[in-house]
Amino acid sequence: MHILVNTGGGDAPGLNAVIRAVTLSALRRGWKVTGIKRGYQGLLEPDGLIDLTREAVRGIAHLGGTILGTLNKGHPFEYPIEENGKIVSTDISDKIMQRFREVGADALIAIGGDGSFRIASRFGAKGMPIVGVPKTIDNDLSCTQATFGFDTAVTVATEAIDRLHTTAESHERVMIVELMGRDAGWIAMHAGVAGNAHVILLPEIPFKLEKIVDHLKRRYAAGRRYAIVVCAEGAVPVGGMQTISEREVGGEIRKRKFGLAELLENKLAELTKFETRSLVLGHLQRGGSPTHRDRLLALRFGAAAVRMVEAKQFGHLVAYHPPHMVPVPIEEAIAVTKTVPLDSDTVQTARDLGISLGD
Ligand code: F6P
Repeated sequence: MHILVNTGGGDAPGLNAVIRAVTLSALRRGWKVTGIKRGYQGLLEPDGLIDLTREAVRGIAHLGGTILGTLNKGHPFEYPIEENGKIVSTDISDKIMQRFREVGADALIAIGGDGSFRIASRFGAKGMPIVGVPKTIDNDLSCTQATFGFDTAVTVATEAIDRLHTTAESHERVMIVELMGRDAGWIAMHAGVAGNAHVILLPEIPFKLEKIVDHLKRRYAAGRRYAIVVCAEGAVPVGGMQTISEREVGGEIRKRKFGLAELLENKLAELTKFETRSLVLGHLQRGGSPTHRDRLLALRFGAAAVRMVEAKQFGHLVAYHPPHMVPVPIEEAIAVTKTVPLDSDTVQTARDLGISLGD
């Protein structure tokens, strides 16, 4: 057997642990393993393939990022190519299929999020035998109870909130911190409750500014003259929209959820007259070493993916259904985004602790 491995979409702490587990599990079976750099792109580039030997994956399980590099642009079915000064969206998937066959690959282990699996499922339809490994710090994949990266992101965010408490209290300020998560509020909810935030705003619970203002004023009036507001980047006001930033990169318009904290800073400062500051924790949530929990999960995902290749369970990804790793069809896995259930115990706990959810 010759298997290929790639990492796609945003990085997540634990990717290198998956690569190591895939490599060692495959080598033990006498297989050859090749890493594709930069998603699928490496298949079309002269230096784009790495022989994954035991030495190549030595000492990487605890490292953040991915030794293979990753892309969340350059979709192989709509690849932006410049023609006569214009960017034209081109399907380069057949070239990738051809290279896959030329290198003598029998299967691909694709480590990615929902975007990567939409691409993987189209390559699957073209005949590429694929097993997926789910990755996202956002915890928003419904097929699996957990993804690696989430625990690290929540740990980093909780530590940041802890640090904000001391400066906010010293200056008697409202500090607003924007956390990642796309359309799901998992990181904000978990880090906000663990970090004792006073207000937590989630995409799942549209907020009313006046509710936040009331909560802050009551808090200050009671003598607790500082506050921590945690907002998920995808949180929305009632009847409003998410805060999106747009930029052109290499001919592609890249949109991202960004800037809600600053908007809130201005509005809350105006409405409360309290001194207010905002920050975006951003990619600090994705960088650095995985926690032991993410590392172990990632190693388990990698080893399970190789067992699935061995069992020829292609078109499936590995899902964690504690205590087991089980195969789930890729299409099924990306059908529904997992958001924070409004009746979950964590939401109830936040309410019981007197945290405002802005509603
Ligand atoms: O999906 C992971 C994630 O970090 C989201 O939480 C965030 O919205 C997005 O990726 C940021 O993407 P980029 O790295 O392209 O800015």
